[in-house]
Amino acid sequence: MKKKVLSIIAMLAMTVSMAACGSGGGEAPAPAPTDGEGGEEVSSDAGDLITVGYAQVGAESDWRTANTESFKSTFTEENGYKLIFDDAQQKQENQIKAIRSFIQQDVDYIVVAPVVETGWETVLEEAKEAGIPVILSDRMMQVSDDELYVAWVGGNFVKEGETCGEWLADYLEAQGRGSEEINMVTIQGTIGASAQVGRTEGFGNILAQHDNWKMLDMQSGEFTQSKGQEVMESFLKSYDDIDVVICENDNEAFGAIDAIKAAGKTCGPNGDIIVVGFDSVKAAFESMIAGDLNATFECNPLHGPRVAEIIQKLEAGESVDKIQYVDEAYFDTSMDLETILPDRAY
Ligand code: AHR
Repeated sequence: MKKKVLSIIAMLAMTVSMAACGSGGGEAPAPAPTDGEGGEEVSSDAGDLITVGYAQVGAESDWRTANTESFKSTFTEENGYKLIFDDAQQKQENQIKAIRSFIQQDVDYIVVAPVVETGWETVLEEAKEAGIPVILSDRMMQVSDDELYVAWVGGNFVKEGETCGEWLADYLEAQGRGSEEINMVTIQGTIGASAQVGRTEGFGNILAQHDNWKMLDMQSGEFTQSKGQEVMESFLKSYDDIDVVICENDNEAFGAIDAIKAAGKTCGPNGDIIVVGFDSVKAAFESMIAGDLNATFECNPLHGPRVAEIIQKLEAGESVDKIQYVDEAYFDTSMDLETILPDRAY
């Protein structure tokens, strides 16, 4: 596949507009992946295939697993692509190495789900010099020149955090606890990742509106279940009066629930501690049905088809929306979760 002409890309990248994509979990099922892993090039001849290098964050959560699967099932040879997939194990330096390797391999497109928001200018300049368009997926990058990437598609993390705060206010009010002093802790995501920055900010916006809400502590659980459990164990040792735990993803919430139970406390709608998470993965529905988790705020991981649509538009010489937010919902134990769960795609 011949390399895109820089001037065309630059022209396309000029399009700065906002767009909303439907969420709905509607990724079409696709054949099993035939792509390479760990940054290794697939063995078959690329021929007329469009070569895409995907610098993935890691495999830290159920959400991430669903996101990887979405890319692998979309960017198949049957669909006209050769995917070079790299798992950075949550390390920015690994992602930078992967991007440089994609440049060396002269891929047609580079897709990045950046671990953190800052520190990308140099490597994106290198991609630009090589004439390779960069598409951002899931998390954002802070760069001085937004022409360094063609488009971004992902969730509105600030809005997710605000929705969580608004849900909590309504929930406490409905419980007759609207004026009670409420002690909270937050298990944050990877510090500096868009999902952490946005959710902390969004929830903080609502926290600021409630004088009776007290945030006792915030620590990172790195978006993993094991670290979520570890952090919650330490919170429970330091504070004996926690009312609410905000977990910045569902996997951290599962770890927090294990820690709460191990400490002899209860959680969920009938328990001592209110626990909420983000992502709305299937296991979060199971946890709510089991009465452990109170609510989960959706973050849609099915970006493979969305990125493919961007690439197809670029291939056709069409313009693309620079910033593409995905619609997202939330789910709590007041809903008919048993009916909703079977239709969830992740
Ligand atoms: O950037 C999206 C976040 O990353 C998801 O909430 C989390 O589960 C993942 O690790």
